[in-house]
Amino acid sequence: MKPLSELIRLKPVIGWVLFLATAVIVFFLGLLASSIIERRTEAVYAYTPQVGYSQFEPRNEIWGKNFPKEYQSYLKTSDTTFRSKYHGSVTIDMLEVDPGLVILWAGYGFSKDYKQSRGHYYSVKDVWNTLRTGGPAGERKSPMPNTCWTCKSPDVPRLMNEIGAAKFYIGTWETKGHEIINPIGCADCHDAETMNLQITRPALREAFERIGKDIDMASHQEMRSLICAQCHTEYYFNENVVKGVPYLMFPWDNGFKAEDMEEYYDAMDFSDWTHALSKAPMLKAQHPGYEIYLTGTHASRGVSCADCHMPYISEGGQKFTSHHIVSPLENISNSCQVCHRQETERLLRDVYERQDKIIENRDELEKLLVHAHVESKKAWELGATENQMKNILIDIRHAQWRWDYAAASHGASFHSPVEVGRVISTGITIAQEARIKLTRLLADLGFNKEVPYPDISTKAKAQAFVGLDMKKLNFEKQEFLEEVLPTWLEMANEREKNYEVETYLKKD
Ligand code: HEC
Ligand code: HEC
Ligand code: HEC
Ligand code: HEC
Repeated sequence: MKPLSELIRLKPVIGWVLFLATAVIVFFLGLLASSIIERRTEAVYAYTPQVGYSQFEPRNEIWGKNFPKEYQSYLKTSDTTFRSKYHGSVTIDMLEVDPGLVILWAGYGFSKDYKQSRGHYYSVKDVWNTLRTGGPAGERKSPMPNTCWTCKSPDVPRLMNEIGAAKFYIGTWETKGHEIINPIGCADCHDAETMNLQITRPALREAFERIGKDIDMASHQEMRSLICAQCHTEYYFNENVVKGVPYLMFPWDNGFKAEDMEEYYDAMDFSDWTHALSKAPMLKAQHPGYEIYLTGTHASRGVSCADCHMPYISEGGQKFTSHHIVSPLENISNSCQVCHRQETERLLRDVYERQDKIIENRDELEKLLVHAHVESKKAWELGATENQMKNILIDIRHAQWRWDYAAASHGASFHSPVEVGRVISTGITIAQEARIKLTRLLADLGFNKEVPYPDISTKAKAQAFVGLDMKKLNFEKQEFLEEVLPTWLEMANEREKNYEVETYLKKD
């Protein structure tokens, strides 16, 4: 075959045909690109509002009328079929999987019932059902305060707007049950007027203020993580902000690391509970997801929670943000492969390898802690004094805090494997030290044998060992579900009927 230039020289018309064909192709490519951009813009901005509602409208289905695509994808958080190696949207009874947890949390609500989290769609249902909120009925109160509702529902910003944060937190959990009905949704993250992302929880705003940061100055990309940080964080209840109110606070004044928060709690002599076996003044870490994420590679490269958990997806040629918030392993192509070119299998292996390695050491630390609690109990039985036990119990407090910091933050072993590995290894060192001190103390008390590891091979055995009356707890819960819950739903129904009449401002 002759070279192209010679062909054109012999038959100039070939040159013209080529030129025109190229021009036509470029024209259509341009048309395609502009249509993609247009649709993308349409998806985000151009919509015809079907309904108008107030800033504090808590019902997701009402917002859904204006934003059907986002709403439909949000509804998928009700799916409970996805399961990865350690996580997913299925209900996993963690005490069944790992009965050692019952020992670690003896004397605290989590030893009664602890299931791995499901989708946002279940946020309210799951607090009704967990044994941790008890079975309030008649004169019987819940062991938890209203503060527990704070991260569960768009009814929270609504009610806080009406009565203020402190009045919201006050009182036991059952006293505001009829107010908190709608699961986590649109009004938790969006301004109704502009649809901009917004912070609706005062605890996050206040924590930023205390460390001298103005959350209103956060960049758009930071907001795509900060909206999650309203709830996926370590927190505690402070009784000294407003007297008698379990005020929700984030312990960030010294920093976000495990040691920073431990120092904060130690300085104020705070403990969540006294351990039923060892009598140690314990800290319960509550999912420090945002804090641990901050120490990882992705955060340092500016990747946000939403980048992985709320990727853009495409439907009918329109791109929009998936509101099906779930393990990103459910959708690796949209969640990871927009940035990584590796095969799905390879990325999956990356995640699992990190999780396996972290969990191997975390389980070691857990065993040491079970031993330390049981050995402390033995020491008390043999007549140990408070003075003899003091340093041992502080070690147990610090070691278990590190274990919980790593375990309670869902996804941490992927979000920041190096930091989590470090925290666990310091925990192992401290737990070992506690056990060396215990061995010496037990010998001083005349006991020179190994304290036997209890038979905690099942959840039921472990719960019996720590003295829980599960029959009673289950009975009380059933009573609550049958007698009290229906009245809450009825009251909410009545209230919401009024919203439509009173606060529905029809837009043009
Ligand atoms: C208003 C509080 C709140 C906000 C805001 C929030 N979450 Fe959640 N999230 C929760 C609660 C509560 C659960 C547990 C629900 C359950 O188990 O019933 C949860 C569960 C999850 C789960 C587990 C889902 C599953 O299928 O297992 C993921 C993942 C998650 N959230 C990610 C995020 C991300 C990412 C953001 C920010 C874009 C976010 N959350 C914002 C409170 C919140
Ligand atoms: C946990 C927080 C969260 C909740 C709950 C939430 N959104 Fe979003 N939404 C986001 C984020 C993050 C984006 C991406 C915003 C951005 O980057 O500008 C977004 C974007 C949007 C957009 C802009 C268009 C798009 O798809 O990117 C619309 C519309 C929207 N959401 C509607 C809703 C509706 C309707 C609900 C309730 C059913 C809802 N959102 C609940 C976090 C949330
Ligand atoms: C918005 C872009 C983005 C998304 C989405 C993203 N990554 Fe990354 N990822 C990065 C960047 C940037 C780095 C740092 C790489 C570097 O600088 O060389 C990184 C690093 C990594 C690393 C090596 C560092 C480490 O943490 O050990 C792994 C593994 C990884 N990503 C897996 C994933 C997986 C799995 C997903 C989906 C769940 C994902 N990434 C989603 C951008 C992204
Ligand atoms: C680079 C991607 C990436 C980023 C960024 C990221 N995550 Fe994750 N997240 C993951 C992966 C991967 C898992 C592990 C999922 C599994 O094991 O099934 C996970 C797990 C989780 C889980 C547990 C999910 C479950 O099914 O129980 C929660 C909750 C969570 N992340 C919240 C967050 C929050 C909040 C942020 C921001 C502060 C965040 N994630 C940032 C990738 C990411």
